[in-house]
Amino acid sequence: MDKKRILSGMRPSGKLHVGHYFGALKNWVQFQHEYDSFHAIVDWHAMTSEYEDPKNIENDTLEMAADWIAAGLDPEKCTIFVQSNVPEHTELHLMLSMITPLPRLERIPTYKEQLREVTTRNLHTYGFLGYPVLQAADILIYKAHLVPVGQDQVSHIEFTRELAKRFNSLYKEIFPVPDFKLTKTPILPGTDGRKMSKSYGNSIFLSDPPDVVMEKVRNTFSNPERARRSDPGDPEKCNVFHLHKIFTDSENIARIDRECRTAEIGCVDCKKILGKKIIEFLEPVQERRLDITKDRDKLNEILGEGANKARNLANQTMKDVKEAIGLKNFKAK
Ligand code: TRP
Repeated sequence: MDKKRILSGMRPSGKLHVGHYFGALKNWVQFQHEYDSFHAIVDWHAMTSEYEDPKNIENDTLEMAADWIAAGLDPEKCTIFVQSNVPEHTELHLMLSMITPLPRLERIPTYKEQLREVTTRNLHTYGFLGYPVLQAADILIYKAHLVPVGQDQVSHIEFTRELAKRFNSLYKEIFPVPDFKLTKTPILPGTDGRKMSKSYGNSIFLSDPPDVVMEKVRNTFSNPERARRSDPGDPEKCNVFHLHKIFTDSENIARIDRECRTAEIGCVDCKKILGKKIIEFLEPVQERRLDITKDRDKLNEILGEGANKARNLANQTMKDVKEAIGLKNFKAK
């Protein structure tokens, strides 16, 4: 039986942190064995908000590709590519824009929210309004069956489903109506206790060297109620303990839980253990990262081949689309 196809994308935001790993990449690495997986670094999506100053997009794209491979995405098992290298995304985006009702776009919650919240950029543009149409094109151009996303993206997938159905009923049944695959995303606390996020400056990056990890962990907020070393702690109220739950084996977690409550272990030692566990986790990731970053030609090759594979498929879909509508390609002899 043919494998089902998965498509997912991430905006190039540069170096990824461990929150990205546990929130998305870990699942993707699993999926590459079970599905025909396509992973796009969506640089046109970045342009919808960074259009005034796009100079970082190229470097952010390369850093992200390196982190994907470091995290365990294997270019032999899945297709890794850059959105703008496959022009069919933009062609389908234009086509889909024809059948997109304007009020439907204006109602999408992420759109309203970003217009309200983002004050440093002018997002009152045609391109930004069309962000979900571009996302729908990313998915439908590969006739993907499944889209692994977090809860925040569900409204975009619902919108994609509507567009697929609308196209199918207006012209011809060519698009599978994709399902979202909600991924379990533990919210990883950052070093300050808020959700780990690059913009908060509270992240541990996949590429952080051991001494940097140790320093960040040393400065991580623990339970403020445990003021003195001799105070018994409450692990459930401690940010450091929540991180232990992600990185540390169950035996050690149980021990730390016990010894924190009785003040046998202090925060300094508890953090040292956490730091070591994170460094252990990062070791194989950083080995792969080093391999790929010392060989820029190789990374180029991977992204180039990924784009070729993606284009083969995308090109066929565009042919189907034009045929369904009745737009002819004229060819000179
Ligand atoms: N909008 C997604 C985000 O902000 C990124 C994205 C673009 C995407 N195209 C996609 C995700 C296609 C899944 C499928 O996270």
